[in-house]
Amino acid sequence: MPTITFILKDGSRQTIDAEIGDNIMQVATFNSVPGIDGACGGFCSCATCHVYVESAHQLPAIAEDEETMLQGTAAERNKKASRLTCQIIMTDALDGLVLRIPERQ
Ligand code: FES
Repeated sequence: MPTITFILKDGSRQTIDAEIGDNIMQVATFNSVPGIDGACGGFCSCATCHVYVESAHQLPAIAEDEETMLQGTAAERNKKASRLTCQIIMTDALDGLVLRIPERQ
């Protein structure tokens, strides 16, 4: 099963197994990753699933609604690395993905 590593706010790492087909916000919340709330349930309307992508994986392009939410809501957006985890579906190609949790959501 592919894995995702989350770098937590305190600098520690949490590596978890990720089910193919789940979105990454679901993977994080099902595994109680601190700092990923997923308040809107994955409807791209809260930005409490914001992360910085630290690995070099090729992710799907940012859709217009994700871009709008990142611009308007995500705290401490990093133009190159910020993504909303609810908009990324886990695949085998994302095995080993590394995501950093922002200081604040
Ligand atoms: S869970 Fe709300 S935008 Fe991702």
